[in-house]
Amino acid sequence: MAEGEILDMAATSLGVPAAPRHVALIMDGNGRWAAARGLPRFEGHRRGVEALRRAVRAAIDLEISYLTVYSFSAENWSRPREEVQSLLGLLHRFIRNDLAELHANNVRVRVIGARDDLAPEIADLLKEAEQVTEANTGLTLVVAFNYGARQEIAAAARALAQMVAEGRLSPQEIDADAISAQLDTADIPDPDVIIRTSGEQRLSNFLLWQAAYAEFVFLPILWPDFDRAAMVAALEEYAHRERRFGRVEAPRSAKTAS
Ligand code: FPP
Repeated sequence: MAEGEILDMAATSLGVPAAPRHVALIMDGNGRWAAARGLPRFEGHRRGVEALRRAVRAAIDLEISYLTVYSFSAENWSRPREEVQSLLGLLHRFIRNDLAELHANNVRVRVIGARDDLAPEIADLLKEAEQVTEANTGLTLVVAFNYGARQEIAAAARALAQMVAEGRLSPQEIDADAISAQLDTADIPDPDVIIRTSGEQRLSNFLLWQAAYAEFVFLPILWPDFDRAAMVAALEEYAHRERRFGRVEAPRSAKTAS
């Protein structure tokens, strides 16, 4: 029996959503993976990119619609200069080497995070990845780069305040939907499940608003060891959760017809 069918069966018998539409990944543990082997941190990040490729392939295979990956946080700039340079270099190479394969696999690339202060060559690279794949209809790969959820929410608040100041919006019209519409993720559904590797159990300024009803799966493995089996294991754990969205019972649409 295919893994997808096993997941669907587990979900069906429990009355919970089968496969998640949107999976978000906090790819943590590259440094520890390298340290455990006496290797430089860069080697951990390099192997982390290989794990990212496996994650994208698994997501395509498992017919996930959205995969968001936390590739570089707004706070990561404060790492040592050489490490920042190596992460930027890996992003550059990932887009240069993998864009053609992503495109051939009908993957649409989207980027979230602040773009204003980025070096032009990085900003152009991100724009190119989005433009080349704009019309694709398969997996949407959302790359969170220079991303910080608090910064994203603050920017949304600024945009709404500006609209109020210009008389285009009244304060009473500011509700959760109005805020969601100003986020980088405005047209992306909220994540169903956020998976974090390395055993750490925190969000680290990732998708704070969007995670309101997300399920969390914390895996004890380090990111460079992530593979399809780890993804399937995480999704199986998700499939056993009952999502109630604040209600007493699971919503009708998430239950099996009975
Ligand atoms: C956390 O590991 C991971 C990151 C800071 C970056 C994630 C980046 C990749 C998987 C590779 C780069 C991919 C792209 C597309 C740029 P850590 O260094 O915090 O590990 P540690 O907590 O063990 O030190």
